[in-house]
Parts: sequence; C-alpha cells; structure tokens
Amino acid sequence: MSNSIQTVGIIGSGTMGNGIAQACATHGIRVVLVDINQAAIEKGLAAVASSLDRLIKKEKISATDKDAALALIQGSTSYDDLKGAQLVIEAATESETLKVKILQQLDSLLAPEVIVATNTSSISITKLAAATQRPDRFIGMHFFNPVPMMALVEIIRGLQTSDATHDAGKALAERPAKSPVTAKNAPGFVVNRILVPMINEAFFVLAEGLATPEDIDAGMKLGTNQPIGPLALADMIGLDVCLAVMNVYMAEFNDSKYRPAPLLKEMVAAGWLGRKTGRGIFTY
Ligand SMILES: NC(=O)c1ccc[n+]([C@@H]2O[C@H](COP(=O)([O-])OP(=O)(O)OC[C@H]3O[C@@H](n4cnc5c(N)ncnc54)[C@H](O)[C@@H]3O)[C@@H](O)[C@H]2O)c1
Repeated sequence: MSNSIQTVGIIGSGTMGNGIAQACATHGIRVVLVDINQAAIEKGLAAVASSLDRLIKKEKISATDKDAALALIQGSTSYDDLKGAQLVIEAATESETLKVKILQQLDSLLAPEVIVATNTSSISITKLAAATQRPDRFIGMHFFNPVPMMALVEIIRGLQTSDATHDAGKALAERPAKSPVTAKNAPGFVVNRILVPMINEAFFVLAEGLATPEDIDAGMKLGTNQPIGPLALADMIGLDVCLAVMNVYMAEFNDSKYRPAPLLKEMVAAGWLGRKTGRGIFTY
C-alpha cells in the first residue's frame, strides 16, 4: 500500500509540518503542503530551505539534493490541491475543535480509500477517528521534533484503525528512513507517557533538596545515557507544556501518580517557562 503512495498531503506548514515535508521530500516523496495563508507557507518553505542549507554545510547532502527536495514540495493555501495525495497527515495547531473541522473538510474532499493521519501529541486518536467518516482509515503518526533529525515515529492505532491502515502508515514512516514503533491509543502514547512523568519527578527531587539541578541532570545523563538531563529538557520543551501534559494525565487517568510537582506549578506561575522566556531551571 505504502509503495502506491507517491504524494503525501500535509496540513500545517509549522514546525512539524515543514519538518515532515522535508523528511518526505529528501526521500523522493512528493508533498503538497497546505496552510491557511501564503505567509505561513513561505515561512514553512524557508524553514525547509535553511534546514537543507545546514545539511549542505555539514556535507550530508549536495546542492542538487536540496533543489530536488524543494522541487518535490508544493506549497498551497487550497485544500483542493490535496486531491492528488494518497495519504494526508494533519499537523495543524494543537486544538481538538480545529482538528475536527479540518478532518471533516478532508472527508468531503478526499477519495474514500485515502488514509488520513494526525500528528497530534495529546488528542485521542480514537476520538478524532470517530469524528471522521473513515475511522478505520485513520491513524496517528507522531513524529518528533526536529523531524529531519529524529528517527522515531510513533504509529498510534485508534480502536477503529484497521490492520491495512496500520501497515500502510508504518511502511510510509519507514520510507524517509524513520524507525516506527506501534502503540495503542492512550494519553501521551508511549514516549511522552514515560518521559514527562520522569521530568516531573526531577522537579520533586529538586524541591526536596536531594541534589542541585546540575547534579540531577549530570546523574541522569551519566547514569542512564540520556543526551540531556531532565531539567534542561524541561527548559527546552517549556515548563508550561510539561505542566499541561501532567494535567492531562491527571485528568485522564485520575491517578495521583501523575500529580504535577508543586515546584513545576510555581515556576509556571512565575512565568519562568524555560529557554523561551530566558529563564527556567537554568538561565539563558
Ligand atoms: N512541536 C513539537 O515538538 C511537536 C512534536 C510532536 C507533535 N506535535 C504536534 O504537531 C502539530 C503541529 O505542531 P507544531 O509545533 O508544528 O505547531 P505550529 O504552531 O508550529 O504550526 C501549526 C501550523 O498549522 C497551521 N494551521 C492552523 N490552522 C490551519 C488550518 N485550518 N489549515 C491548515 N493549516 C492550519 C498554522 O498556520 C501553523 O502554521 C500539533 O498537533 C502538535 O501537538 C508537535
């Protein structure tokens, strides 16, 4: 099935959408990249071009490879241009209302056999599938940021996802040299379900005064072979994002093991959100 996929539609040309577009196009897959206005499209295409320039500088690709990749990406503000795609990945802003609206728009536009995927980090795949007229041909394809560098794609099966859809999504993820793992739908899927509570625990450890932030991060880096410590990672993700994720787990699982660390809440209240505000656990 995935071999019959020549053109992938991508909705949203932001961080993730343009990253997925780049990964596909550098591996010979034609892309139609749709966003709401021309400025957003141009910003997305410029991000791809400068990311490819960095790869040229590192001698990972040639200038010819860059031109070939860019030639495979068609930017558009019209959903009609998605009609030629055999699979469409929704990577628009994280809002359930918005995503449901987009998915319903796609339903009326795309042929019934077209598979629709979503890159959502936090919305239930089962719930989104239920809002479409193709619940068995709907799947989560959760890419990681920055997409061109990160090997993982979580392939998330909603309750309704068919085996054929799963196999097609997985095979497509392998074409831009990604390593897919399959998971059933549940809040946080697999990686963030484990990662974010670990970060939250680092805030408890810090608040209990067990070790300095530097030693907590050094301990986790040296002791578990992670490239970055949990507190520096929290600063990178954004403390507000970490807190929001813990709040979702708390609400969805109704289990106190997901209680957000009071220090994390306090720092978010202070507006110390990490790198993006110049101050989090560390200062930037
Ligand atoms: N950023 C991450 O690290 C990350 C990682 C994994 C998954 N995700 C998920 O990927 C999705 C996109 O996140 P992002 O970080 O790229 O966001 P972003 O804000 O960088 O980009 C979102 C884009 O969607 C566009 N958009 C909004 N409404 C649209 C519509 N109706 N039609 C077409 N385009 C529309 C916006 O104009 C914007 O360009 C979200 O669901 C997010 O949860 C993000």
